[in-house]
Amino acid sequence: MRILIIGCGSIGSVLAKAVHDMPEVDRIYVTDQSKDYALHLIESLEKARYVDNVNDNIVKILGEVDLAVEAASQDAARKFIPFVLENGADVMVMSVGVFADDAFREKCFTLAKKHRSRLYVPSGAICGTDGLHSASAAKIQEVHLITRKGPRGLRGAPGLKMKGIDIDSLTEPTVVFEGNARDASNQYPKNLNVAATISLLGVGFDNTHVTIICDPTTERNAHTLIVKGDFGELRCETQNVPSPMTPSTSYLAALSAVAAIKRILGNVWIGV
Ligand SMILES: NC(=O)c1ccc[n+]([C@@H]2O[C@H](COP(=O)([O-])OP(=O)(O)OC[C@H]3O[C@@H](n4cnc5c(N)ncnc54)[C@H](O)[C@@H]3O)[C@@H](O)[C@H]2O)c1
Repeated sequence: MRILIIGCGSIGSVLAKAVHDMPEVDRIYVTDQSKDYALHLIESLEKARYVDNVNDNIVKILGEVDLAVEAASQDAARKFIPFVLENGADVMVMSVGVFADDAFREKCFTLAKKHRSRLYVPSGAICGTDGLHSASAAKIQEVHLITRKGPRGLRGAPGLKMKGIDIDSLTEPTVVFEGNARDASNQYPKNLNVAATISLLGVGFDNTHVTIICDPTTERNAHTLIVKGDFGELRCETQNVPSPMTPSTSYLAALSAVAAIKRILGNVWIGV
């Protein structure tokens, strides 16, 4: 398999190193808007090559790429997902919040069908997506996500600015957002990708309820997923260790991309 990794930050770095050790992967291309990040990452990865972050350069190698992994930003997702699909490669998306835009999501899903490419969204930083997926085969009455992060995991989010919240002045756990997953994805584009993932699996962006708590007493990125449906009730709690490089990102998110690629490469799928 030949893989293109778009974005050499917290997720892209873990992923590039992990796929380098997979015997089925014979070539890794990496790109980043920062050439330095990309070159630094591949210094010790002999299967890896740098591609300049320009469509024309990427299109030259897309013919020999089986899977492109977007691990960069919503802007990068908007630019690259349709482009990769139109060029016939499969794509894995980490900046899932971009799919809160219905027109863009439909465009990508339609392109995937038209070009017979696969579009993968790993479970990311949350557990319980397997149960939610199964539950969605019957009626679901409620999906509620409660996310609790420390100030470092939420800093810079447009939603905080909109409400004039100074997270550094908080002395106790405080609800900074209560609403649906669409608004959460738009107001917290780098922090709430899991809200988008569970919306796609369950009851959609408008019907998925989200609570975000800024907790100055924690360093963890915690998610509690509550689902009620015909199947019964599910309550799943994930206490994530944040990435040292990008505190809004949890290590589990990178691991979910690694695990997804292992699953794609294998013929036996457990727990689908
Ligand atoms: N699905 C999930 O559960 C989940 C969890 C955490 C993070 N994420 C998302 O995954 C993405 C990557 O996360 P991360 O922690 O690795 O981010 P990061 O900030 O550590 O790294 C992102 C890298 O992408 C590069 N980049 C940004 N925009 C680009 C563009 N337009 N073209 C090329 N390169 C570009 C940056 O220079 C940076 O090196 C983010 O959008 C993040 O919000 C998803």
